[in-house]
Amino acid sequence: MRVTIDGVPSQAAQGQTVAGALLAAGRTSWRTTRHAGKPRGVFCGIGVCFDCLVTVNGVADVRACQRVLVDGDDIRTEEP
Ligand code: FES
Repeated sequence: MRVTIDGVPSQAAQGQTVAGALLAAGRTSWRTTRHAGKPRGVFCGIGVCFDCLVTVNGVADVRACQRVLVDGDDIRTEEP
């Protein structure tokens, strides 16, 4: 499948999560904490911690570890 990550075209496998695509693209963090500015990416991987939030197709605060990609998804992170 074709997706974009911060505007950059990327390939993703059927059934892959947004977090999987970000990790496959070499990203280990993609946002920072509000007050301390600490990097965040996947922590729990099961939808509990909310560390992995991204914007998908204009919808903010999507848990990257829970959202399965569909062809054409536009993923936006806080840290391009
Ligand atoms: S990594 Fe914890 S909710 Fe996604």
